[in-house]
Amino acid sequence: MKQERPSSSPSLKSLARLLPFARPYAWQFAGVIALVVVFNASSVMQPYLVKIAIDQDISSHHPNPRGLVDIAALYIGVVVAGVAANYLQITLLQKAGQSVIRSIRVGLFQHIERQSMRFFDNRAVGALVANVSNDTETVNQFFTNFFLSMIRDGLSILMILLAMFRLDVRMGLFSLVLVPIIFAVAAGFRGALRRRYQRTRTLLAGMVAFLAENLAGMRITQLFRQEVRQAEKFRDLAGQHRDANIREYLTSVWFNRTFETLGNVSVAAVVYIGGTAVLGGAIPIGTLYAFIRYIQQFFQPINAMTQQWNTLQSAMVAAERIGQILEIEPEVLDPEVPVSLSNDARGRVEFRHVTFGYHPRHPVLRDVSFVAEPGSFVGIVGPTGAGKSSLMSLLLRFYDPDEGEVLLDGVPVRQLAQDALHRLVGIVQQEVHLFTGTIRDNIRLFREDISDERVQQAARAVGADRVIARLPDGYDTVIYGRGANLSMGERQLIAFARIVALDPKVLVLDEATANLDSQTEMWVQRGLVAASQGRTTLVIAHRLSTIRHADQILVLDRGRIVERGRHDELVRLGGLYARLHAESGVESRLFS
Ligand SMILES: Nc1ncnc2c1ncn2[C@@H]1O[C@H](COP(=O)(O)OP(=O)(O)OP(=O)(O)O)[C@@H](O)[C@H]1O
Ligand SMILES: [Mg+2]
Repeated sequence: MKQERPSSSPSLKSLARLLPFARPYAWQFAGVIALVVVFNASSVMQPYLVKIAIDQDISSHHPNPRGLVDIAALYIGVVVAGVAANYLQITLLQKAGQSVIRSIRVGLFQHIERQSMRFFDNRAVGALVANVSNDTETVNQFFTNFFLSMIRDGLSILMILLAMFRLDVRMGLFSLVLVPIIFAVAAGFRGALRRRYQRTRTLLAGMVAFLAENLAGMRITQLFRQEVRQAEKFRDLAGQHRDANIREYLTSVWFNRTFETLGNVSVAAVVYIGGTAVLGGAIPIGTLYAFIRYIQQFFQPINAMTQQWNTLQSAMVAAERIGQILEIEPEVLDPEVPVSLSNDARGRVEFRHVTFGYHPRHPVLRDVSFVAEPGSFVGIVGPTGAGKSSLMSLLLRFYDPDEGEVLLDGVPVRQLAQDALHRLVGIVQQEVHLFTGTIRDNIRLFREDISDERVQQAARAVGADRVIARLPDGYDTVIYGRGANLSMGERQLIAFARIVALDPKVLVLDEATANLDSQTEMWVQRGLVAASQGRTTLVIAHRLSTIRHADQILVLDRGRIVERGRHDELVRLGGLYARLHAESGVESRLFS
């Protein structure tokens, strides 16, 4: 695992680009600033009040017990005001900060939803998950911790210095000298601490990855008798992690002790310098007391501010990553003025000289032309990698062709709203994606307009009802982890029911029956014959029996349609189809 390194050049600009997400909460942030001022004022006033008590009421020539009561009451009032301001400020800032994260998350998710297939081809899902979950969290650190620290700690240092100068200029100058020294010490240690921390994290991640891989592959390790060797490797990884951890801990102990010592030495210096001044009658004793407290208060905000440097760095890196995604415009866009197909869409599919490749200069479909008449049944066959699935991706407009045109009822699909297109063309693929929810939810895909009645009809139409009836809770069976609690065939049947419930004009099946046993496949076949009535149906199949009765069969090879016709004609032709047919005959004899 690499350390966090800027992918391009993270800068304040990348954070500024996310500012619009925070703008709606500008008032909250302003409120935070006001409350911070109150809180700081409370902290700075406390030593000052004690100083007044000492100099005017205790050590003066006219001790004043009444005055002490007043000061004590005032002191309590100031403390309470400070605590209240602090509480309100934290509440307000958390609310604003969390709202900013939510806005960025939702914005990012919606942006990703709009992306075309190619976006997902080029990206690991895990990385996107991290973008939406962690990076937003890290950016939020900027809006909360960084923002707060700069204001609170910056103000705090300023106000303490001001108070000191007001009390005594000479002592104030002495404290001013301390500022850069404290900053330097804190910043130096922070850098080292961060490096140690990252090294520990990296080693831990490496160890976890090793564990995950080895636990998953334990059977192989045992079979090949690699236990000792793997344990040795693990001992090494765990040892490195131990050392890094100890070093990290020691650095932080060193840091804290050094800081404390510096603080105490400063106090000693103040006692000496201030004490001498008191003896010489230059300052009253209460001022000395206040100075000691101020010097002690001084260290905390400086330390906190140096810590924010790291926050800023990581926030910029995260903001840069988020910004890079937000910059990408979806490749497939809806036309400005979409053509709307009338309600009586017929479902005529036409490919006109279509050429397409995932990478330029490497076409996977070349000059493909065909027509699927409304209501007809078209079979598409061909060897693996021939381009069959790609063909269907173009019809669904997951991609746009490089040349030529895909038309639905005579209208180029580019000119339709994607919404309308996907209502007219439905696809079932071999790989079925199920969402967390019940079977019923998954069939209607959470669309409220599809009634329970229609869900059951759809399930019956494809023969899924028998399988669903066998499940523990029928239609209310809850699906876990994308359908891990269902068999492949069951998932497939649900996908079929889902598409029938959608009721598209054009039905595309891509290897959709490959997971079914021959008995279930037969039911599905029967269901599909019923379901395909009145729809144009395009079926991609390796098992040629599925498409034997098609009105038209297209044979695809390396991106070209090499043969087309009905089953008998193609068998008679004696070309690729005939060969595939002969092979599948052997296969069915082998496996039956
Ligand atoms: N997302 C993608 N990015 C890049 N290349 C791809 C992508 N999808 C498919 N290809 C390539 O395009 C070619 C056609 O793939 P396609 O999935 O259309 O084949 P297929 O005919 O459906 O094969 P199969 O019968 O195995 O499903 C293959 O060479 C494949 O490697
Ligand atoms: Mg395919």
